[in-house]
Amino acid sequence: MEYITFEHDSRAEQLIGQAYDTPPLAYVHSYGCQQNVNDGERIKGVLVDIGYGLCDKPEDADLILFNTCAVREHAEQRVFGNVGALKGLKEKKPGLIIGLCGCMANQAHVVEKLRKSYPYVDLVFGVDGIDTLPQLICRKLEQHKRVLLDPAQRPVIVENLPIRRESEFRAWLPIMYGCDNFCTYCIVPYVRGREKSRRPADILAEFRGLVEAGYKEITLLGQNVNSYGKGLEEQIDFADLLNLLCSVPGDYHIRFMTSHPKDASRKLIDTIAAQPRICKHLHLPVQCGSNRILQQMNRRYTVEQYLDLIEYARARVPGITFSSDIIVGFPGETEEDFCQTLELIQKVGYMQLFTFIYSKREGTKAALLPDPTPRKEKTDRMERLLKTQDAIAMELVKAQVGQTVRVLVEGYGRLEGTLSGRLDNNLTVEFAADPVLLGQYAQVKLTGARATVLLGELAG
Ligand code: SAH
Ligand code: SF4
Ligand code: F3S
Repeated sequence: MEYITFEHDSRAEQLIGQAYDTPPLAYVHSYGCQQNVNDGERIKGVLVDIGYGLCDKPEDADLILFNTCAVREHAEQRVFGNVGALKGLKEKKPGLIIGLCGCMANQAHVVEKLRKSYPYVDLVFGVDGIDTLPQLICRKLEQHKRVLLDPAQRPVIVENLPIRRESEFRAWLPIMYGCDNFCTYCIVPYVRGREKSRRPADILAEFRGLVEAGYKEITLLGQNVNSYGKGLEEQIDFADLLNLLCSVPGDYHIRFMTSHPKDASRKLIDTIAAQPRICKHLHLPVQCGSNRILQQMNRRYTVEQYLDLIEYARARVPGITFSSDIIVGFPGETEEDFCQTLELIQKVGYMQLFTFIYSKREGTKAALLPDPTPRKEKTDRMERLLKTQDAIAMELVKAQVGQTVRVLVEGYGRLEGTLSGRLDNNLTVEFAADPVLLGQYAQVKLTGARATVLLGELAG
């Protein structure tokens, strides 16, 4: 693994200055997970660094970049649809540069399709190419030819990329990239490449900068944060990293995602228990409640091991809440397998579930499995899952009423005059308050609930 430091590209800045009469504008749209959203923030940072302004509408832009997600077919179709819709814009404005980056750009068949069928797409680069963007734009401007890079993984971590964050009080902080787990349904290891950890000193420096800039919520990101530290010179695991970060003084809290259950250690749970700055909430995707399917998914834990972990966490961290991802309709999932999933979610009592119908991804192992279950049956299962979960969540949410809690005020509520805040346990509450509180902590008394959203009033 090589660690490199991004440096300002003054040649690119000069060239862009000469190519446009007024500073050009860039529109960057990110799809997919938080990791990708954070990449999008860095892409914007790099563009601003070489002289671009940012805009909110594709029509105003001189450069349009779609930072894409490949995790499900639907995500890919949306991107192709959105790229297709730009054809007219490009005809009206021939100087417009249209680019595609992110996870889809790391698939050879996607790049091929863009090359053949989308002639107005000028620029394609993968997830490891953000630091090379200034050179790619120069190439495009100087040679007037399409710059479509073939997918490649680089065993490098680029530090010091400029960044334009979307929020002034909540920040994403990647601690590692890639994934080595190869769950059989998942495309991520193929598009994001092998797991690589940032050095603790680099993470700490970025973390300190965020705390000093007043960020209240810092979410550590990785596809499997629990395997942080593999391959580093220093002996350090994820729990050690959390302890290191918590030693930074300031008014903030820490979240993290995602935790793979097979690597979530007792030490991690003990660290959550011991550190008041770590939120008492664990996103612990189980995917399915059937051991047979879990094995076929290559998840490498059993339902029993998973439940042991939940039990340990409940005993060590009073009030801890859980959320999870579930895939419905994995190839060969039977009614019985599915009922085991329903049983499991009832046993655990998740506050939130992120539910997905299985989507076949070419190149993954599961794509080779027979999948005889009709679509209709899968959507029926999904409905039953959502109904069961709604009932569970509503009970859990109601049980919170009566407490007074600290929340981070994140945005506006649905009713006029209300704001919305997030509890330590990841639930949201809406309450009447002055917008000056946005981005601040507030004490809120929980007075009721509407479905799975708490209602409250400012306390004290
Ligand atoms: N690394 C994280 C998140 C991966 S992607 C983890 O392991 O939990 C987020 C979620 O998308 C996964 O947890 C899974 O539930 C879902 N997912 C991934 N591939 C999928 C596929 N082919 N079809 C349906 N859902 C999928
Ligand atoms: Fe995909 Fe599994 Fe890696 Fe998560 S842990 S990104 S689901 S392969
Ligand atoms: Fe999608 Fe890539 Fe994230 S495939 S879920 S954007 S890692």
